[in-house]
Amino acid sequence: MRDDRLAKALETVAPCRYFWLFGAACCVTATLIVSAATARAEEPRTAYWLHCAGCHLLDGRGAPPEVPTLIDTPGRIAALPGGRQYLMQIPGVALAGLDNERLAAVLNFMLEEFSANSLAQDFQPYSASEVGEHRLQVLQDPLKRRAEIFAGPGFEPESQAGGH
Ligand code: HEC
Repeated sequence: MRDDRLAKALETVAPCRYFWLFGAACCVTATLIVSAATARAEEPRTAYWLHCAGCHLLDGRGAPPEVPTLIDTPGRIAALPGGRQYLMQIPGVALAGLDNERLAAVLNFMLEEFSANSLAQDFQPYSASEVGEHRLQVLQDPLKRRAEIFAGPGFEPESQAGGH
């Protein structure tokens, strides 16, 4: 009689145990999904650290005049004629060991993180296809191109860029 009751009790407890196990498994899965999502959101930052910060430093300060600062200036450049393309064609950017999607994300991260003050309100984030198209034309003389872009409103890079 006593054994019977024990057996019955175990029968009811056993599924409960599985329920808890199931719950625990769900918790672990949910945590993994959340941390994977966080890691993904953090990815451009990590990529910046690995591929850019060696020269431009973690805070984007660079070491002017050899290595330009990434604080505020790129935001202003992005709004100038030809500037948007220029940012994708600088050797350190265009030749970075990142696929187009990750490079676009790093450029967007760079602008949002260091140029929030100078970035145009209507700035459209870089897309992977845009980066893929433009990074192939790596600038041979980035400083010359930069000077041209800053040369003022008279400069029309579109007419020299082959009619894009
Ligand atoms: C090996 C050092 C080095 C690395 C790595 C590097 N850069 Fe540069 N970067 C430079 C130098 C030097 C210049 C100046 C132009 C030139 O000589 O290429 C420059 C120019 C730039 C400019 C133009 C700034 C301006 O005011 O005209 C931007 C934007 C930039 N880099 C972003 C990046 C990003 C983003 C990465 C990572 C994907 C990166 N750089 C990786 C050294 C580097």
